[in-house]
Amino acid sequence: MNRVITLNEFIIEKQKDFPYSSGELTGLLSDIGVAAKIVNREVNKAGLVNILGATENSNIQGETQQKLDVYANHQFVSAFRSGAEVAAIASEEEEDICVYQNEISRDAKYVVAFDPLDGSSNIDVNVSIGTIFSIYRRVTKGVCTREDFLQKGMYQVAAGYVIYGSSTMLVFTTGNGVNGFTLDPSIGEFCLSHPNLKTPENGSIYSINEGHYNDLPEGIKQYLNWCKESNKADNRPYSARYIGSMVADFHRNLIKGGVFIYPQTAHSPNGKLRLLYECNPMAFIAEQAGGKASTGKQRVLELQPTALHQRVPIIIGSKNMVEKVEQMLEQFSPVSTL
Ligand code: AHG
Ligand code: MN
Ligand code: MN
Repeated sequence: MNRVITLNEFIIEKQKDFPYSSGELTGLLSDIGVAAKIVNREVNKAGLVNILGATENSNIQGETQQKLDVYANHQFVSAFRSGAEVAAIASEEEEDICVYQNEISRDAKYVVAFDPLDGSSNIDVNVSIGTIFSIYRRVTKGVCTREDFLQKGMYQVAAGYVIYGSSTMLVFTTGNGVNGFTLDPSIGEFCLSHPNLKTPENGSIYSINEGHYNDLPEGIKQYLNWCKESNKADNRPYSARYIGSMVADFHRNLIKGGVFIYPQTAHSPNGKLRLLYECNPMAFIAEQAGGKASTGKQRVLELQPTALHQRVPIIIGSKNMVEKVEQMLEQFSPVSTL
């Protein structure tokens, strides 16, 4: 009988492969696993308790906060504060970074940027949602500053996401491939279910909010029309799949092959998704799984961030599909027209 490998067994075993192996990253990933289980418990009973619905608050980006956003933010903030590994955090739900000043955290090595609840518009309708995290080694001495977070994505030490779906999974990379763990609710443990995940180089799924069609760059419009043409050789017409939770759309495409696009539009010239806690971590995972992530003009992981809540356009997924979108953008939307 095959014995399951739990998340903790896996990360302890792999600790020797982690960069700067001192056990702190192991502890941090383990803390994320615990916070994910707590959030998962609330997500699962969301329909039963009085936790659904909007609070009266808005976050700093003017979006209505859902109660589960606030709950998930609190759980992850507390998990990071109580460990000795994280010196500061940046969250979608907090305007500025939050520096941990207590004795054990002050001199910690890592900072974490995260989206506590991704896909919050799907909470009330029982559709998959997620959590996304990005871990950097801090670059300043003394009290943490924004500079610790404004590092290029290529310097991430680890990144991952939790998907609260038909099953709950934790998928992460420490720069040495991607591994996926499925929560076994009967024992309350994340168990290794998708070792060394690789994404197909080609796929036949495209994921985009096509409601914005009239506002899209010409290159994206041309790509969408191309996806709909019939061509047996490359499996077209492709299938359109769009959940509206980046984590869930990305996860499906990672496993099956596909491309997820959130481009600039006439109304949002920088796209919608946030570089630090949505695009960079997903780009790191995509590349580690053999896929690709681009803004249309450059590799996401090479962008120099300038602000905590910066938005960027993103095209992410199967390598050949991302390259096709890039080609179409170059051909039909030269930079001057974007
Ligand atoms: P969040 O819930 O963290 O604000 O993120 C929502 C994001 C992302 O998950 C999703 O891909 C995208 O918003 C959907 O946007 P549209 O509704 O514009 O398609
Ligand atoms: Mn999000
Ligand atoms: Mn969110």
